[in-house]
Amino acid sequence: MNTQVVLSLTLVFFFFSGSQAATITFNNKCSYTVWPATLTGDQKPQLSKTGFELTNGASSTVDVPSPWSGRFWARTGCSNNGGKFTCATGDCGSGQVACNGAGGTPPATLVELTVAANKGQDFYDVSNVDGFNVPVSIAPQGGTGDCKPSSCPANINAACPADLQMKGSDGKVIACKSACLAFNKPEYCCTGSFAGGPDKCPPTNYSQFFEKQCPDAYSYAYDDKNSTFTCSGGPNYVITFCP
Ligand SMILES: *[C@@H]1O[C@H](CO)[C@@H](O)[C@H](O)[C@H]1NC(C)=O
Ligand SMILES: *[C@@H]1O[C@H](CO)[C@@H](O)[C@H](O)[C@H]1NC(C)=O
Repeated sequence: MNTQVVLSLTLVFFFFSGSQAATITFNNKCSYTVWPATLTGDQKPQLSKTGFELTNGASSTVDVPSPWSGRFWARTGCSNNGGKFTCATGDCGSGQVACNGAGGTPPATLVELTVAANKGQDFYDVSNVDGFNVPVSIAPQGGTGDCKPSSCPANINAACPADLQMKGSDGKVIACKSACLAFNKPEYCCTGSFAGGPDKCPPTNYSQFFEKQCPDAYSYAYDDKNSTFTCSGGPNYVITFCP
C-alpha cells in the first residue's frame, strides 16, 4: 500500500471509531424545572450541549463520543436577570444557559461518567463529594457486565444538618454542603496530612451522614467502598433527576 492509501484508511478508521457514540438521555422527574449541565474533562472539546432547560416531566438527549470522560449535574432556581442567566444551585458562572466548559459551583450532586474506547469498560458514579442539590440516578441501557443503576434518590436537603445547609432567599434549604465546603478543614477535604487515601482520611460523622442518605453515592473523596459502577459493550445511559 502506498502512503496515501494507508493515510486514507487511517482517517476512515478514526472517523468510524470516533462516531461510536453513547446517547445520554436526561429525564426530569422532579416537580420543578432543572437546568442540566455537562462538562467534558481533560481539556477535550465540549459536548454539543453544555447546558439546557428541562421542565418537569421533560426529556432531552445528548451524544457523547468514545472515549469520553466528564460530569453532569442539575442547576436549580435559575433565572435571567438583566440578560445574565444565574442559578441558585450548581451555577456555572457563564451568564448563559450553556456552561461552555465551565464547572458548577458546589454544592451539587454530580454524575461522573467515563466512556471507554471501542466498547470497553465504562465507569460511572453518583457523587456527593461536592455536596448535594438534587436527587439523581444513572442507569445504563444495554451493555454487558454489571451494568447496575447507581442512584442517590434521597432528598438530602430535607435531612441536611444545620451547619451544612445552604438556604435560598425564601429561607428553604436548597442544597446541602459537603463538610469540606462548609468548614474547609484538611480532615474533611482529605488535604495536607489527610491526603493520600482512605487510611489517611477516614470517614467523618459528616461523610457518614451522606453515606447513610445515599449508600450508592460517593460520600467523600476517599469513600473506598463500592460506589463506582461498571458496564461494558457500549451502553447508552439514562440520567434521571428525582428518580
Ligand atoms: C459531627 O461532630 C462534630 C464534633 O466532632 C459536631 O459538632 C457536629 O454536630 C457533628 N455533626 C453531625 C452531623 O453529626
Ligand atoms: C456494596 O457492598 C456491600 C457489601 O459487599 C453490599 O451489601 C451492598 O449491597 C453493595 N452496594 C452496592 C450498591 O452494590
